[in-house]
Amino acid sequence: MANASLQRLAASQITLEIMALLSILNYPDKRLHKVAKPVPEVNDRIRRLVADMAETMYAAPGVGLAATQVDVHERVIVIDVSETHDELLAFINPEIVWSSDERKLSEEGCLSVPGIYDNVERAEKVRVRALNEKGETFELDCEGLLAVCIQHEMDHLMGHVFVEYLSPLKQTRIKSKMKKLAHAM
Ligand code: NI
Repeated sequence: MANASLQRLAASQITLEIMALLSILNYPDKRLHKVAKPVPEVNDRIRRLVADMAETMYAAPGVGLAATQVDVHERVIVIDVSETHDELLAFINPEIVWSSDERKLSEEGCLSVPGIYDNVERAEKVRVRALNEKGETFELDCEGLLAVCIQHEMDHLMGHVFVEYLSPLKQTRIKSKMKKLAHAM
């Protein structure tokens, strides 16, 4: 048995279940400096976390998000650097197994440090090993924006925010700017 309003209700409940935007911690929140623990098992809870993190990242909008940024201190990252926003990558328990000696300076920003962009030097290419949402191990060779993004997000899992690579003077300025911004909201 079904009628239109019940169907609409069911549809809205499904939407609610799929969509869950998580709140993103803002620098200099101390919780951004917690070190994430490895995920013991890739189960429905982790798949739900990945889905919610993806929705949160796309809505922000951003190209990468680490679980640390949504106050979940487990080794989970989502990234989508595609122009079409339909190439979601989930990295569970990621490790960098190789990085190039060549390094490159590029501009970075962070959903936890809104409005701040600055240059950071990182390995130009990296190879990452991680588990996917099915719990299967995969390896991925990353370069360009993807290489920058994975290194940036893995720093988050270690409790580091990209502004820590900047000069102490810049960090102080950014902290005070962020505190003013938080106060204004
Ligand atoms: Ni970030």
